[in-house]
Amino acid sequence: MSKKNHNPQNTVIEFPNMNEISIICEAAPLVIVDHNVFRLYPEIFHKNNHLIIHGEKEKDSSRLFSILKRLSELGLNRNDVLLSVGGGVTTDIGGFAASIFHRGIKSAYIPTTVTAITDASQGGKTAINNSGIKNVCGSYYFPDSIYINFNFLDTLSSSEIEDGITETVKHAVLSGSVFFTKLENFIFSKEWSDITTGNLLPSESAGFNEIAVDSYTYKQEIVAIDPFENGIRKILNLGHTVGHALETQSEMKLPHSRAVASGLIIELFILEKIFSADYSHFTEPLFKFFKNLNSVSLDNLLYEIALKDKKAVNKKIMISCPSFTDSANYTVECDKELFFDSVVRYNKKLKTKNI
Ligand SMILES: NC(=O)c1ccc[n+]([C@@H]2O[C@H](COP(=O)([O-])OP(=O)(O)OC[C@H]3O[C@@H](n4cnc5c(N)ncnc54)[C@H](O)[C@@H]3O)[C@@H](O)[C@H]2O)c1
Repeated sequence: MSKKNHNPQNTVIEFPNMNEISIICEAAPLVIVDHNVFRLYPEIFHKNNHLIIHGEKEKDSSRLFSILKRLSELGLNRNDVLLSVGGGVTTDIGGFAASIFHRGIKSAYIPTTVTAITDASQGGKTAINNSGIKNVCGSYYFPDSIYINFNFLDTLSSSEIEDGITETVKHAVLSGSVFFTKLENFIFSKEWSDITTGNLLPSESAGFNEIAVDSYTYKQEIVAIDPFENGIRKILNLGHTVGHALETQSEMKLPHSRAVASGLIIELFILEKIFSADYSHFTEPLFKFFKNLNSVSLDNLLYEIALKDKKAVNKKIMISCPSFTDSANYTVECDKELFFDSVVRYNKKLKTKNI
């Protein structure tokens, strides 16, 4: 196993232009690529060295094994690089394949969505879904290289950009008032409104690029302290216990970021009750930040799904405890009653927002 890929500090981040991206894609023996990226950027893919991933539904064991089969057929060895080009789905499954083939070959990412640039490509978590459970199989495997080019974001739809800001909002909530205020100012600015109405390309927005870099820098700082989630890194899961349950409940039809946006608010409501605190300075703006929030169906199954989350302990779901809770622990138990009370509160609040 390559020890190098177990140290976040060994990942090199570069900012190539599109010509250089094209050369990187040509040089890789195998490129795992998102179907929309392949369709939208035909000029950067040259030869028959790619394997296409068709979204979250293919982030599973059968696609993983088809990648491994192709790696075997091509005879890749540990010094060869598996390049993954796309959103978080593609980098998660490509990274996982790289981590287990020959117990670890080289891995590189070209993240092409807001979520992938600001979050998924960073931090070394790789994953696939299995038996309908989100990210239940995976590894910690830090890529050798991450190549970032903000131009990819220009072909995302407005709703994908809006949804994609979720993990950045989560990082801002976790990191405290300076980043949160900066993000708040940006999201209520004309610049962000111009991006989401299609009047300004994301790559041309200095404010957006800065916020994106702040987002992954915050994550890198936490991961550098605790790469394998034994302590403080657990806080990065805020919003994801409920978010993953919502995603699974929807049979992966609800976009990940949108599910996590609802999960973030619901988990903040849960934490408010547990710690007898007031987090409305977060929750109130979040209802305004996220334009595409969905109401949550009060289905018993939702809690059952959340119980299957890998963070569950003693048949209780666990919610991340950010430092602003002043808890000595990084997670806290949540029972079924509080879980559903918080969902009801979220639905009620969403209804009044939408009136
Ligand atoms: N490993 C981690 O730390 C981590 C963190 C956050 C999320 N994730 C995972 O990432 C996934 C969500 O990531 P995502 O939101 O990027 O989803 P995604 O990969 O499904 O991409 C979202 C959509 O954008 C399209 N797309 C990608 N790049 C495009 C481009 N440049 N132009 C136009 N369309 C483009 C895709 O085809 C897809 O329809 C989930 O599976 C989640 O579990 C992982």
